[in-house]
Amino acid sequence: MRNKICEELNKSDIGKAVNLCGWVDRRRDHGGVIFIDLRDHSGFMQITINPEDGETLFKQAEILKNETVIMVNGIVNERPKDSINKNIVTGELELKVKDLQILNQIKNNLPFPISVHDYENTKEEIRLKYRYLDLRRGKLLKNLKTRHKIIKAVREYLDNSGFTEVETPLLTKSTPEGARDFLVPARLSNGEFFALPQSPQLFKQLLMVGGLDKYYQIAKCFRDEDLRADRQPEFTQLDIEMSFISEEEIISFNEKLIKNVWKNVLNINFNEEFPRMTWHEAMDNYGTDRPDTRYEMLLKNLGEILGNIGFNIFTKAIQNGGAIKSITIKDGNSSISNVRIKPGGDIFKVAQDAGAGGLAFIRVKGDELETIGAIKNNLNKDHISNILKITEAKDGDLILLGAGNTQIVNQSLDRVRQYIAKDLKLIEKDKWNFLWVTDFPMFEMNEEEKRFEALHHPFCSPKNIKLEDEKELKEKIESSTAHAYDLVLNGLELGGGSLRIHQAKMQREVLRTVGLSDNQINEKFGFLIEALEMGAPPHGGIAFGVDRITMLILGEDSIRETIAFPKNQQAKCLLTNAPSNVSKSQLKELDIEITIDE
Ligand code: AMO
Repeated sequence: MRNKICEELNKSDIGKAVNLCGWVDRRRDHGGVIFIDLRDHSGFMQITINPEDGETLFKQAEILKNETVIMVNGIVNERPKDSINKNIVTGELELKVKDLQILNQIKNNLPFPISVHDYENTKEEIRLKYRYLDLRRGKLLKNLKTRHKIIKAVREYLDNSGFTEVETPLLTKSTPEGARDFLVPARLSNGEFFALPQSPQLFKQLLMVGGLDKYYQIAKCFRDEDLRADRQPEFTQLDIEMSFISEEEIISFNEKLIKNVWKNVLNINFNEEFPRMTWHEAMDNYGTDRPDTRYEMLLKNLGEILGNIGFNIFTKAIQNGGAIKSITIKDGNSSISNVRIKPGGDIFKVAQDAGAGGLAFIRVKGDELETIGAIKNNLNKDHISNILKITEAKDGDLILLGAGNTQIVNQSLDRVRQYIAKDLKLIEKDKWNFLWVTDFPMFEMNEEEKRFEALHHPFCSPKNIKLEDEKELKEKIESSTAHAYDLVLNGLELGGGSLRIHQAKMQREVLRTVGLSDNQINEKFGFLIEALEMGAPPHGGIAFGVDRITMLILGEDSIRETIAFPKNQQAKCLLTNAPSNVSKSQLKELDIEITIDE
């Protein structure tokens, strides 16, 4: 239908006849001449239609609305000097139209304008409902192209490194990655369900047992969990697994892979090795396992000093095995008012939303500490000098304190730290702070259910636990460290992986530790245990969030901006209205009856 696309045209085409197709970006009628900005996927070309070119042609041009789909044939001309447009690639050219065909006239006015000239901020709800129009506005298409570039760079790199891309099933059995499963009823086995994979974890391990050696997949994963800007119910992983490999080798290989993506897509070179931090260091100093190291304000432990000054909340926190921790905000006395850190204030609320009962504060004013009486009256000179030493606070600084359950203190100060960094604009632009977090504990206690849960997943291999020593195995496993690692970038988890358990006995022990009975182990993971008994090589791997990598490379705030057809925050597709009801006959075939609980 066309022999050129807009941005292919250049001065060498002047005088030539070309066919172009695309959309009417906008039409301007200027004293008899009609100018149309024709837009295709590549860019723009101005086309002109004169009344002398024929009445039919001119009449047709007059009825063109924005976004009408057209095909034009004409001669490329040089624009008069005074109408050159430096902002577009074809700004020195115009097409004098000889023939114009309307390929598709639009029916109604569009729900929002497409042309950049009429750009308006449109509610995300509307953008998602008419995603194809949102795509046509151009920015999302650019994002998809960047995503394509990232995946292409990854595929090339892995292909050159001897990896094979293998697809694994989507209709499968539940894999425990910590979220709820999406279930699919199976018509041929009534009453039974498939689960959509939360990740290809077990299949990639089985590929190692199968001798594949180096696997990867750009894999769709499904998790029914609470959504955030960096989470979708359906997302994409770059999933990797290798055999006969050490933790160190996996980390250094994947670091090279990631560096290669940044080099290919953004032309940024990272010459230094990515820094590393153990999970314990991360939790102590940042209160989170995905620290944003672009700014300071580290968490400091004040338990030893404040735990016995006689202030009830502090005393209780320590007596109950909790913590008292602080962050120091440089010059916080002038930048943050009391209203914001007291009950009802925005910063207080951030701490509260993260589970904290409250937030205490100390303002450093010269040699004095200004705080509530109940704290101040109990502080002696030594206390004060120790507080200043540990918090590194100086005159003019503000210290915020959290006390109570360690997990909640960490969580709330982490959120407050992030909130203040944004609020006070402490984050330098264009920083890429990669960080490997290593040495995760194998398990954490689920306090509500009083049972251990795997911190990553229960297929990670524990460090330094010998299978031969039954006693040691049982005693040490609960507090063991995993051969597990996450790659964090600017405070966001980009990926995570581990060395896997490759021996059936160890796998059983770990599954028992997370509370499964031998029967449950056989029923849920019998196929895995059996495979491990039949010559499983030592293996390990990692998975990166492709949507998150793309989001960070693009500088977007939400992964929805990197996905062609994302779900909204309620996990709905506003374009197709999925999920939706199905017919009675479909349900009957599946032997499923829906009863709505009043
Ligand atoms: P994990 O659960 O850490 O590991 O997932 C790996 C990476 O996937 C991305 N991710 C998500 N992205 C968007 N929306 C979500 N809901 C979502 N959930 C996770 C994150 C995360 O770092 N099988 C293991 C990997 C392994 O051990 O090899 C796994 O799935 O970027």
